[in-house]
Amino acid sequence: MRILGIESSCDDTSLALLEASDAGFSVIAQKTASQVEMHSAFGGVVPEVAGRMHAEAIFPVLEAVLAGQDTPDVIAVTAGPGLITSLLVGVELARSLAYHWNVPLIPVNHIEGHIHSVLLGMQKNALAFPALCLVVSGGHTELILMDAMGRYRRIGATRDDAAGECFDKVAKLLGLEYPGGPKISKLAMTGNPNAIPFPRPMLDSDNFDFSFAGLKTAVLYWLRDHGSTFQATGGITREDLCASFEQAVVDSLVLKTVRAAKQYQVHTVLLAGGVSANLRLRESLSAAITHIPVLIPELAYCTDNAAMIAAAAYTRAVAGQFTSWRELAADPNWTLS
Ligand code: KG4
Ligand code: ZN
Repeated sequence: MRILGIESSCDDTSLALLEASDAGFSVIAQKTASQVEMHSAFGGVVPEVAGRMHAEAIFPVLEAVLAGQDTPDVIAVTAGPGLITSLLVGVELARSLAYHWNVPLIPVNHIEGHIHSVLLGMQKNALAFPALCLVVSGGHTELILMDAMGRYRRIGATRDDAAGECFDKVAKLLGLEYPGGPKISKLAMTGNPNAIPFPRPMLDSDNFDFSFAGLKTAVLYWLRDHGSTFQATGGITREDLCASFEQAVVDSLVLKTVRAAKQYQVHTVLLAGGVSANLRLRESLSAAITHIPVLIPELAYCTDNAAMIAAAAYTRAVAGQFTSWRELAADPNWTLS
């Protein structure tokens, strides 16, 4: 089955053609137009600008992905959660194509897409249930229990900032451009993670929730008290601060994930979302959980992409669970359940 995936929930316009079967997924073509340069000038994603840029980019991206290909069997599109101005562009393209080609349509939850990113380029039988998914992106930090394909239960989430958002905000405090996660993690590679004892909020709480706003404030206060030029810090460098901050985020994420994996006796752990590109997180989670497989997406599929959206639609496509182009609507607050 050939599935055309469409993703435009934030600041990446991505389309992909995926060959999907019970054995696994193979990406035939994928193209992503990033808006990062435009938004970095504003220090973050500006919703109206994002919507306009998706509208400009989406047809050239579609043309590139479909070049020389037959009409797909199914169309899968991110319908939420995300920015409404961004979602609408992908959803309206999906509706138009479904109408024009008379091809069935499947709305996909963006978080469900990230969860499926681990299955791209991997045997599907690597996934044993129940599975625990740690989804960490710019907009979400959630622990999701997966009882079977398509069956999800959220057991924990951030109470304030998402992990990626926290990386981006701390990067801004350091004068680094949006998105700050990759820049912080690059600087952190040569820093000392034990240089500054930043807090690990909610580690002692009796639940699977997270909180990152206090950690961001702790970095703000440290920079206020020690100066952001790193000239009077007793030898502590910008790299040390990045490494110490990154370690605090990773410790919070890994500890709660390990606890949840034990309590729910899961057979697989999945890491997904843009922050799953973080090397320290990838290594720490794999080192902390050795008795069951820890599945982590290839770096190319960590951040937003359309192949993961197409993959997430496969189970419902096989079951014939389609939505009519007349009924499909974007839902910016769609929660996975
Ligand atoms: O999943 P994604 O592409 O978009 C959302 O759905 O939000 O995630 C983007 C987020 C940004 O906050 C970015 O800073 C973060 O992922 N990110 C990273 C790394 N690469 C991307 N955070 C930490 N370390 C990285 N290497
Ligand atoms: Zn995402």
